Amino acid sequence: MRALILVTTAAVTSMAHAADPHSYAETDKFVVRHVALDLGTDFEAHRLAGTAELTVEQLDPAADRLVLDTRDLEISAVHLIEMSGRARVLAFKLAEPDPVLGSKLTIEFPHCCAATTQMRIRIAYRTSNEASALQWLEPVQTYGAKPYLYSQGQAIHTRSWIPLQDTPSVRVTYDARIRTPPDLVAVMSASRVDGALPAGEHAFTMKQPIPPYLIALAVGDLRFQALDNRTGVWTEPSRLQTAAREFEDLPRMLEAGEEMAGPYRWDRYDLLVMPRAFAFGGMENPRLSFISPSVIAGDRSLVAVIVHELAHSWSGNLVTNATWDDFWLNEGFTTYLEHRLIEKLYGERRAEMEGAIAYEELLRTIRDLTDEGRPGDTALQLKLAGRSPDEGISDVAYQKGRWFVSFLEERFGRPAFDAFLRAYFDAHAFQSIDTETFRAWLLEYLERPGAPAMTAEEIDAWIYRPGLPATMPKVATGVFAPVDKVAVDWQSGRIATDALPAKDWIPMEWVRFLDEQPADLEHEKLAELRATYGLGADGNAEIALSWLELVIRTGYEPAYPDLERFLLDTGRWRLVESLFSELSRTESGRALGERIYAKAKPGYHASIRQAVERLLYPEPGRATAQ
Ligand code: BES
Ligand code: ZN
Repeated sequence: MRALILVTTAAVTSMAHAADPHSYAETDKFVVRHVALDLGTDFEAHRLAGTAELTVEQLDPAADRLVLDTRDLEISAVHLIEMSGRARVLAFKLAEPDPVLGSKLTIEFPHCCAATTQMRIRIAYRTSNEASALQWLEPVQTYGAKPYLYSQGQAIHTRSWIPLQDTPSVRVTYDARIRTPPDLVAVMSASRVDGALPAGEHAFTMKQPIPPYLIALAVGDLRFQALDNRTGVWTEPSRLQTAAREFEDLPRMLEAGEEMAGPYRWDRYDLLVMPRAFAFGGMENPRLSFISPSVIAGDRSLVAVIVHELAHSWSGNLVTNATWDDFWLNEGFTTYLEHRLIEKLYGERRAEMEGAIAYEELLRTIRDLTDEGRPGDTALQLKLAGRSPDEGISDVAYQKGRWFVSFLEERFGRPAFDAFLRAYFDAHAFQSIDTETFRAWLLEYLERPGAPAMTAEEIDAWIYRPGLPATMPKVATGVFAPVDKVAVDWQSGRIATDALPAKDWIPMEWVRFLDEQPADLEHEKLAELRATYGLGADGNAEIALSWLELVIRTGYEPAYPDLERFLLDTGRWRLVESLFSELSRTESGRALGERIYAKAKPGYHASIRQAVERLLYPEPGRATAQ
């Protein structure tokens, strides 16, 4: 009996709160409304230390404990700050860590205080030198001679540098005071507070409520160049001009976004161009998207990433997925908006090309997930309880999500759908919603006079069922017909390598040409291609990716050193994951992957390490391909 009780207690304490399977927060009892940070950066010890003061609203008068999310934090004290400013010590308990969720922090309230509806709780702490949100870079990993730090909150990493309710269903405003070495500059996903501050002190305030995963910090040798009066670029001095030139279209993009999705509600939109180790192509931190330098191709051919992060200013940041099971609401709508904006800004041809390439990737992802015994992960609404939310990051959320939205557009017709989109953003601005809420809102909207015919079954096939439904729109792939023909003619020797019409190709056509090549392509042809067009680890990152995927697919060993260099140079999820996933398809590939990973690992962000390890060392018990 006794043992049984113990077991039950353990199971209950390690369980996340039902509303969001990835948070311990009891949001029906308390909600955190505001976070005030006061943190120092220790570049030697790789730690942040200081205080987080949470303004907490009590919803349940009977609640006498506040539960927060943390991961690897060292907490030294918790105080209740009384109206008078007096600090009263509160007892707290940090539970044993769960590998996915981190440690539940429980703060006890004495009887006296449980009746107040708003209170300030100050937590003194320092982060671990392995905080999963933080990546500390040595000067050699940057474009200059100074160290660098950045945070990556999405999906559940903010808890590793701030103790709070780390669920996107809660929204907070924040302010921050950050102390850095005097020669470094801090930037945040917030507005800078000007005023006389001592050297090495930086102050910020974010007045719009955002989900905790969007609280972001970067520290480095940073400079700013304005593009117009509300946009600009931050980066290291040696890269500033190049970056500003590449992203010159930013003001136009923002205007196009507003025309489509409604007013831009975050005042400024700046980009922070990161060092190569940055874990993503882009991260939509509000007011300041973090961007991988791999997006700078020299010819603006990869700006779709910028358009994508900008589009999150509406889908994701303004209307936010309430849990990571609803991730498609963020990424599917954003990928749809990205596509529409590319079409508007750069023409139908380019949009169609990007769409066709992404569609091939989606088909492959659905096939792979199904083969791996994960067909459930090909439905839009995910069931990630008990797993890392990072397992939900796939083309399904992005591309299947995008095609679902395109399906809606097809049914509504474009003008009516544009009105629907506007209404959707306006109705849910600064809210976090789940898939059910979206579904119910859509069904209700369909009741309006003049709305198109659509059945709940048709909608549910997209949302809840695996794979692509019968209502999948027709994907236009005709733009690639000429390249596809050249690819076949070249394979069969009808076109010589130096006679390829490559000088007329835009990067997307190169990508298609390489993606179309089979695994048994003769090595002699690969050698010619490489020698004639200088394919390798440098230049346009998307072309390099497709080339290196082909190198792996064909086992073309002479190019392995390029593959290794590429994987040591970049830390960007999509590039790294695509290549390790290609490597893990064969035994010899996996062996090569393990060798390269051993060298590359120290330069990768914690979540990238996990993703690569999932590919190279699949969990025993989980069915794998073949
Ligand atoms: N929000 C994502 C990045 C992300 C997703 C970080 C999930 C952590 C967890 C961002 O908007 C994104 O999708 N970036 C893409 C680029 C985009 C053009 C597909 C990337 O990093 O490649
Ligand atoms: Zn995105």
